[in-house]
Amino acid sequence: MSVKKVLRMGDPVLLKVAEAVPTFNNPALNALIKDLLDTMAAQDGAGLAAPQIGVSQRVVVFGIAANPRYPDEESIPMTVLINPVIEPLSDEVEEGWEGCLSVPGLRGRVPRYTHIRYSGFDQFGVKIDREVRDFHARVVQHECDHLDGILYPQRMSDMRAFGFEAELEKAAEAENEGQ
Ligand code: NI
Repeated sequence: MSVKKVLRMGDPVLLKVAEAVPTFNNPALNALIKDLLDTMAAQDGAGLAAPQIGVSQRVVVFGIAANPRYPDEESIPMTVLINPVIEPLSDEVEEGWEGCLSVPGLRGRVPRYTHIRYSGFDQFGVKIDREVRDFHARVVQHECDHLDGILYPQRMSDMRAFGFEAELEKAAEAENEGQ
């Protein structure tokens, strides 16, 4: 139970399809979840997937309560989601900026479904079934992609909307001043 090293893009573990979790509420699973929550908190992340700390299992954690990295975003309940399934509830897709602890310092604009249903289980095996939109839907899609070996740059439609956070912020400020 501790803060783990987050693997970075280029590590082959991040490209693997993760294994389904066979049983709930056991010491190994509970230790993994504690590591994920500790690591996410230490890095100020909105979410983290088990493969990012080198464990190729279908477990993600996410949640945002007044996160300094996302000051303008809505909050998302702290959630442990195991063996998740995502179902888009409309064809509507929206572009939005994302970052990832495995792609540090960079941001990219990624198309995601705006309205989804997701289901899965918590660490005790209790069913989770939610219908969500917008930022919550974006975070879930980003985290669950990690379980299929997909990092957000692979989802981008325009690689010009990809860059270092500091430069993108400068560019956005310059554009605001020009208005
Ligand atoms: Ni990520």
